[in-house]
Amino acid sequence: STTLPYPREAVAKLGDVAVNEPVYFNYPDSRSPCIMIRKGREVKGGVGPDKDVVAYSTQCTHMGCPVGYDKEEETFKCPCHYSIFDPDNAGQMVIGHATESLPQIILEYDEAEDALLAVSVDGLIYGRQANII
Ligand code: FES
Repeated sequence: STTLPYPREAVAKLGDVAVNEPVYFNYPDSRSPCIMIRKGREVKGGVGPDKDVVAYSTQCTHMGCPVGYDKEEETFKCPCHYSIFDPDNAGQMVIGHATESLPQIILEYDEAEDALLAVSVDGLIYGRQANII
């Protein structure tokens, strides 16, 4: 099988991203909504000088509903059947009907540009047979 390359896409300047404020973007294409979070502390897979920036697909792995970021609980919550996912632990499901973690968007930090870039996806985006289609 052929694996198509992931795009490298700038999401935001690190200096513009406030701690615990979701940044909305699409990756690897316009039909795939995602959220980036700067946690303010080192987390699994986090990038940047403090290893604190992570990003996830916001399509729930159960049936594809859009998960939202709960700033108080610092989790992703699905409004459809109440699955909860942990952004500090690679998108792992905490509670609910989903059987897969939220796909984690792999980020890179370009220090010279202070840029956060999306470069790949770990996990299969809901409803797809391949992430790059
Ligand atoms: Fe998210 Fe069912 S679609 S828990």
